[in-house]
Amino acid sequence: MIEVNGLVKCFDGFAALDGATLSVPAGSVYGLVGPNGAGKSTLIRHLTGIFRQDAGTVRISGQDVWENAALKARIAAIPDDWYYFLQSSIRDMMRFYRGFYPDFSMERYEKLKEVFHKPVMANVSGFSVDDYAYTCEKLDREDQVGWLEVNISCPNVHNGGMAFGVTPEGAAEVTRAVKAVTKKPVIMKLSPNVTDVAAIARSCEAAGADGISLINTVLSMRIDLKTKRPVVANVMGGLSGPAVFPLALRMVWQVCEAVSIPVVGMGGVSSAEDVIEMMLAGATAVEVGAANLVDPCACQKIVRDLPRAMEQYGINDLKEIIGGARHG
Ligand SMILES: Cc1cc2nc3c(=O)[nH]c(=O)nc-3n(C[C@H](O)[C@H](O)[C@H](O)COP(=O)(O)O)c2cc1C
Repeated sequence: MIEVNGLVKCFDGFAALDGATLSVPAGSVYGLVGPNGAGKSTLIRHLTGIFRQDAGTVRISGQDVWENAALKARIAAIPDDWYYFLQSSIRDMMRFYRGFYPDFSMERYEKLKEVFHKPVMANVSGFSVDDYAYTCEKLDREDQVGWLEVNISCPNVHNGGMAFGVTPEGAAEVTRAVKAVTKKPVIMKLSPNVTDVAAIARSCEAAGADGISLINTVLSMRIDLKTKRPVVANVMGGLSGPAVFPLALRMVWQVCEAVSIPVVGMGGVSSAEDVIEMMLAGATAVEVGAANLVDPCACQKIVRDLPRAMEQYGINDLKEIIGGARHG
């Protein structure tokens, strides 16, 4: 039995709940319906002991919820947005929660891991062809790595500080070296800092790449007007985010015309509409980078918003629109 009586909760003088009263008999299923701001989440946070009420009572099975560890151990709350610590893995979060819950079950955790096990993409960088081959060979032995994304936009110390990805020959050399040491699909990630991205993509395809992804960051700079010096200590740095989207889209378009292997589009994607545009240009899949730094839930929000955007633009199946802007 859940009983809420005269519940009051104020935030900075605003009464989010003002005398809420609720009674839920044992064994029944209840839904809370109301517009944004009605106080549904605030009520749930009291029922789960996250918030302490300003006035009123919140009781489950006749006991006050607040600071009642034994009672709270019987309550599960699944939020709309999942919260992770930055850069944390599932294992890190498991360790964190295990510290709180005395009856945490490792056995159940292991079982759930099997259900939710998904392969990940490993992104590989290197300073020499040997670096790439060495790392990819190691990753080839990792079950959880589904495919490799090989970033060839980093400095090549054996080639006068150039990037492998800026010449068709350099790109092909890395592709061949990586393909020789792994059976996993290899996606070559290209740099936008080139004049003929299509030629580089074609060269990767001919060397055996299973896919192409692009774009990496765009070499850029700013000058601080107060100090009259470059803002970035290295003078130049990689530009990402919404500003690069039109450039990325153009390059994805060009590469899709040049190769017949799948292309993964990225660069400034921050909305469901951007995903659709990338796919219309020919991308089979889309990656999101900088938007995650602005909002850690960016990907989740984009995925959730996609059905709405698809409906708005009369799209039934995303697969059907891949390259759609190039036909007709
Ligand atoms: C902080 C930061 C770190 C990045 N690190 C990598 C990296 O390790 N490997 C890589 O291939 N690309 C890296 N990138 C490039 C992004 O993956 C992406 O290609 C680029 O930023 C454009 O996409 P976006 O505008 O969605 O971020 C990084 C970008 C940023 C902003």
